[in-house]
Amino acid sequence: MQRTDQWPGPADVAYFEEAQAGAWGDMLRGFLRFASVPVRGRLLDVGTGPGLLPRLALAGGAAIAVGVDDSLPMLRRAQELAAEELEAPGVVGSVPDNCVPAVPAWLCADGGRLPFAAGAFDAVTATNLLFLLPDPAVGFAELARVARRGGIVAVLNPTDVMSQAAAERFADQRGLDGFARFSFVNYGRLAEAHHRLSTAAWMALAQRAGLHHVRSETRAGGLVAFVRGVAGGGIGE
Ligand SMILES: C[S@@+](CC[C@H](N)C(=O)[O-])C[C@H]1O[C@@H](n2cnc3c(N)ncnc32)[C@H](O)[C@@H]1O
Repeated sequence: MQRTDQWPGPADVAYFEEAQAGAWGDMLRGFLRFASVPVRGRLLDVGTGPGLLPRLALAGGAAIAVGVDDSLPMLRRAQELAAEELEAPGVVGSVPDNCVPAVPAWLCADGGRLPFAAGAFDAVTATNLLFLLPDPAVGFAELARVARRGGIVAVLNPTDVMSQAAAERFADQRGLDGFARFSFVNYGRLAEAHHRLSTAAWMALAQRAGLHHVRSETRAGGLVAFVRGVAGGGIGE
């Protein structure tokens, strides 16, 4: 268990591993259902941290799941956890043409300048990344660029009403304690120091990035926004 007397920053490996193993992991499971990643699809998760989302996507039937982060220590831990949980040691020998092995890949890159061709993925996700970037609109456009026409782009971010005080109120109402309370309050604290937009404003950014059929859901009493859209004028819904 992490110390709860110091506030972790957005790139603390042990902290995010513990968060993803606990209540935050349940939030990511709900987000993945909301995102509706195509079965046997190619998923890119940007700002993946210790990589829970790609592991969940692969366990749920995605063909390929790539996790990007600008922190190499995060990716090293993501790789270890995937090796432990997915037991996906790789493939030896020939693979039938129609069989894509379900293995994750981890790449160190800036989410604002992704090293992929346009349209390379069927689904692109980013949870708690855009709000940290200098310009969330630029980051959103980059996510949309690497999704194929008709592919899904889905993001999760704090809303404009998220704050340390709001997170404390929510934690009190729900009876959160220990690490669950500490990490949610820390989330509110981090949100205050970065971009907090209303759900409507996150949806507007999705539309500016060229997504259509944009829809949203909120969680945690309106403090967290899920936003999803379809890339490139396709009919992917
Ligand atoms: C708040 S954590 C969220 C981790 C994970 N997505 C989740 O929801 O549990 C933000 C993650 O984004 C990464 N990150 C921050 N800025 C980034 C950037 N410009 N490009 C890529 N990754 C970045 C951090 O290293 C960290 O792993």
